[in-house]
Amino acid sequence: MIRKIAVLGGITKSGVRETLRMVEIYPGEIVAVVGPTGSGKSQLISDIEYWADGDTPSRRQIQINDQVPAEFAVETSLRRLVAEISQNMNFVIDMSVRDFLLLHAESRHIENALEVAKAVVDCANQLTGEPLMMDDSLTALSGGQSRALMVADVALLSNAPIVLVDEIENAGINRLSALRLLAGRGKVVLVVTHDPLLALLADKRIVMQNGGMAKLLTASPSEKALAGRLQKIDAVLCELRERIRLGGELTPEAIKEVTWPDAQRVSA
Ligand SMILES: Nc1ncnc2c1ncn2[C@@H]1O[C@H](COP(=O)(O)OP(=O)(O)OP(=O)(O)O)[C@@H](O)[C@H]1O
Ligand SMILES: [Mg+2]
Repeated sequence: MIRKIAVLGGITKSGVRETLRMVEIYPGEIVAVVGPTGSGKSQLISDIEYWADGDTPSRRQIQINDQVPAEFAVETSLRRLVAEISQNMNFVIDMSVRDFLLLHAESRHIENALEVAKAVVDCANQLTGEPLMMDDSLTALSGGQSRALMVADVALLSNAPIVLVDEIENAGINRLSALRLLAGRGKVVLVVTHDPLLALLADKRIVMQNGGMAKLLTASPSEKALAGRLQKIDAVLCELRERIRLGGELTPEAIKEVTWPDAQRVSA
């Protein structure tokens, strides 16, 4: 069981000590990693994935439950630590959704495998606009369907306690629900993002600069309020996107039908 993950600070790209000496992350938290291109976001994610122990360019060390990698690496319960969902992932194995999920459930010694497989598909279908079926072939799934299935699979079937999400915003799945689903299962969710809404909804955000962890922020009350407003704007964009995706035309009547956020609250 993971109770705490600590990232112990190393050095920046200039070789000086990074500002944050330690960042602690707890199960159920969503942590956003933000920063400009080249600032070290992917390096931080990969340090966690590879249980860095002073042996990566950043010289960071990852500790789990106050244990150093050499100690927790031998604990079988912590061996399969990380599941990664990245934007360019697709299934390459040619089997049906059902067979894949049953196989995965079997490998995890899950008893009611078929029931769990059905739950995974139901869950995936809540994340994606185009429903997928048990009999669909994995390779025939769309990008958005594949990612939705991966998220549902990680949430319900995998025991990996840490989930690294790489830029989910364009992945064609309901990103907020996806992250909440993962965090709701008591997983640690780290998400690299440039999306203000995701960044503000996260419990913490790590600001990367020149390869180092420069700041640790929690959303302030004004940022939380802003996130609420952004969510309404986001809902409008999602609705328009969906209408356009389905081949709709945005006639004056259709535009009126869109549920615009309360004008006063937006300008407030
Ligand atoms: N602390 C560090 N010390 C030395 N090298 C580092 C450090 N952090 C990152 N780097 C290196 O700098 C390069 C850019 O970092 P990285 O790929 O993590 O940036 P990024 O923030 O993910 O950028 P992008 O937004 O373009 O994906 C990589 O080669 C990485 O290994
Ligand atoms: Mg990167």
